[in-house]
This record gives sequence, structure tokens and C-alpha cells, in this order.
Amino acid sequence: MEPNSYRPLHDLPPLAGITSIDDAMRIGFSVEDCVARLKRHHWAFRRLHGIFIQRLTAEPIYELKMAFSLHAHYCAEHAAAWRRRVGEMREPPLGLDAVPNAALEVFFDELLAAPETDALLFGVYEHALPALLEALQRHMAATNRLIDHPSFRLCRFAVIEVVEMLDFGAKAVARLLPPPRRAALGEWSALLQDLLQRAGGLDGSAPVRDGPLRRLYSAQAPALDKKPRRDERFVDPFNMGVHAEAFLYDEKFPPAPKTLMLYYKRLREIDVPEMMATIIAETRDKPWDYYVDMTRQLWDEARHAMMGEVGFVRAGIDWRTLVRINFTWSLALNTQLNPLERHAVLYFIEQGLMPKTGKRFEWETGVASGDEYAAMVQDYDWADEVLHARIGRDWYVKAIGDARKAVEYGDACWSRVLIDWQSYLAAGLTRHENWWPAAYREWCRVQGHTPDPAVLAYATSYEQVRADLKPLTSSG
Ligand SMILES: [Fe+2]
Ligand SMILES: [Fe+2]
Ligand SMILES: [Fe+2]
Repeated sequence: MEPNSYRPLHDLPPLAGITSIDDAMRIGFSVEDCVARLKRHHWAFRRLHGIFIQRLTAEPIYELKMAFSLHAHYCAEHAAAWRRRVGEMREPPLGLDAVPNAALEVFFDELLAAPETDALLFGVYEHALPALLEALQRHMAATNRLIDHPSFRLCRFAVIEVVEMLDFGAKAVARLLPPPRRAALGEWSALLQDLLQRAGGLDGSAPVRDGPLRRLYSAQAPALDKKPRRDERFVDPFNMGVHAEAFLYDEKFPPAPKTLMLYYKRLREIDVPEMMATIIAETRDKPWDYYVDMTRQLWDEARHAMMGEVGFVRAGIDWRTLVRINFTWSLALNTQLNPLERHAVLYFIEQGLMPKTGKRFEWETGVASGDEYAAMVQDYDWADEVLHARIGRDWYVKAIGDARKAVEYGDACWSRVLIDWQSYLAAGLTRHENWWPAAYREWCRVQGHTPDPAVLAYATSYEQVRADLKPLTSSG
């Protein structure tokens, strides 16, 4: 029989529809070559994850912080998929935690050490991710689609998200990297290209060139900058002038204006990625699933912040001028506690959110307000806590070893944190302006209501009471 005379029965698509018989007869990668390339892809996802995480907290621009949260999540997930796939084909040790090539390592070190945000964007979105996309496409084109279908499939899924990251990156670079800056980065750009060439391409598909490796920015590993930064729309980041929880839980106030406080609380969750990123960056040698889980939660917290942002826009409230989103929580935790203590506080606060008075109450408030959007936001904000509680149990509680002790330790760490209303005031960092009446008045104007005098008069700050409504204790 001539191979090209072969027909499936009834002329149905052959090979489960994956590809043609002709294509499936091609010689693709050996398992050895396939594993070697997948290990390179894996390394790229893993290093990019680390770069997004390490740069997130100190990045001032909110939109970039949010994108770094998402892109870190994508990279952690794909790295996990690649680890599983290599594990399907090879017995341990898999060598997944070993640097696959010295030049490739310097390439990513240089990105991590990029001195300014625009250089970072340029390196990640114009060098690393395009090389990764090419490598994935090359794998899909070269491997035998039938014989190596599981790898083909993973590459196909990854391409969808790499393309999305590149799309964001191209737009961000176009807005943030003016031509003179691009020209100034010419030498670095050439170095990055040279490093990739020496590595034999990101995936090692070209010949490797050995020899001494030059570094421009990464001669010294950059320190992790744990101080959160915000862009110019966050005009008063030490403001603790409006106690959101005390208002929400006060039954004398009606539910509708409480949606504003809910959106405020959601947008303020931007401080959780800022804090979680430093836990992830400073916690080494955990199984990769730890980074996957923690980064997923980090992305959820970023999503919650964006839900608040959209909620304000939808309600016709310009949060930039009417609301003061602070960073006192992430700043205090990042500068006063070690990573395990920070995780303990996060766990302690989150496990306190699940009882009747926490997330359920916020959702009920959203429903009772008649604002369908607030109800939807709170529905998912609550649901996401189910996963976060599981992540806390799996990684924090297990590290402590005992559920009761884990809660006590979280409480103790949280009580030690000094978020000092008075000292921020004394240092002139804020006047703790009560922004509520103006925001509420504007909301009433947009809605065409007359302000309720009791709601308008709300003036409880965080001076005496911490966010979980326990009295603030001093650091001593
Ligand atoms: Fe949260
Ligand atoms: Fe949330
Ligand atoms: Fe959470």
C-alpha cells in the first residue's frame, strides 16, 4: 500500500482530529530533546515569575502592579505544568531546579536588575517574552503532534497567555518608553540579545556559544525593595481617616451608601499583593506548588482591588480625587515582620473573615443595597476566601504544625505591628483628612438623593480601633 492511498473509514478525520497522517509520519523530537527544551521553557517561566514578584511592591504605577500580579500568576501556572510534564517523561531527579544554561541565567539576572521600570518593561516584554513565544511556537512546529501531544497541548495553552502578556507589554512600552530612552537602552538591548544567542536561544535550539559573560546591571544582585510605592493618584497614602469597618457594621446606617465603603475596602486590597509579593520573594526552597498557590492568591487580591476600582467608576465616583487609598498595612508588615510572621497575620485576618460577620455580611450588604454590581463583587470576594483559607491551611498552618497555635501566632504578630495613627500625623505624612462626607455627597448627587445627615456626619477614623475592630495595641 502506498502511504498516500491510506484513508480513514468513511473519510472521517484521522488521528482524533489532531493532525494529518502525513504530518504524524514526520520525525519530531526525541524525548531527550523534548525534555531539554521544556526545561528551558520552564526556567523562563520561573525566572519571569520571580521578576514580576520582586518588582511588584515598589512599582508605583497601579496598572503595572496589577499586570505584574497577573503575569506572575500565569508564569507560576505554566512553570507548574512544565514540571508535571517533565515528571511524566523522566524519573527523578528531574533537574528542574538547576540552571539550564549560564548565559540564560545572566539574561534573566539582567532583567531582574533593570534599573528603571521602563527598562524592565523593555527587557521583559520586548526581549524575554518574544523569545519565549518563539520557543513555544518552535516546539509546536517541530515536535510530532501525535507522539508528543501532551507537550504540544501545554505549549498551545501557554501561547494564549504569552500572547496576552505581550499585548499588554507592547502597549505599556509604547506609552512608557519614549524614543530617547529606547535609544539609551541600546547597549543593554544588544547585551540581552547576545546573551540569548550565547545560550543557543531561549530553548537551546541553536548552537551554544561558551565564553566569558558580561553583565551590565546585574553585577550585584539587586536588593528586594519592600517599601510599597504608589503612583500620583494615591495622594494621601498614610490617611487612616475613615474607618470602613466601623461604618459597615453599624446597623444605624442604610446599606446603599455602604457600597461605597465596600468599594473602598476592595480597592484598598492593593496592599495585599504588595505584602504577599515580599513573602513569596523572601521564602525560598518551598515546593513549586507553594509559589503557584501564593501567587494565585496574590492575583485574587489584585482582582479584588480592580473590582473596587470598577465599582467606583460604575458608581460615578472619581476615587482619585474623592477617596484616600492608604498603604499603611503593607508598609508596616513589610518593614516590621519577617515572611512567616507576615503570612501569620494574613492568615489570622483571613480566617476572621469567614464567620458570619465577615465576608457573608459584606455580600448581604451588597445584596441589600440594591446595587447588583456590589452584590456580584462581594459574592466573588467571599468565594475567593474559600481558596485562600485552603492555601493558608496548606502552607502556613502546616508550617506551624497546629491550627490553634497558628491562629494565636497570627494574632500575636498582628498585635505587634505598629500602624501608628499619631506618628504619621506628627511626622506630617498625613492629616488623616475625613474624605467621607465629600465622597458621600458626590455619590448622592450622582444618584439624585438628598444626603442623609447621619451618614454625612460619619467621622470615625482608625485612630483607636484596628480594622478587625479589636483595639489597637502598641508595638510594645
Ligand atoms: Fe483580600
Ligand atoms: Fe478581597
Ligand atoms: Fe484573601
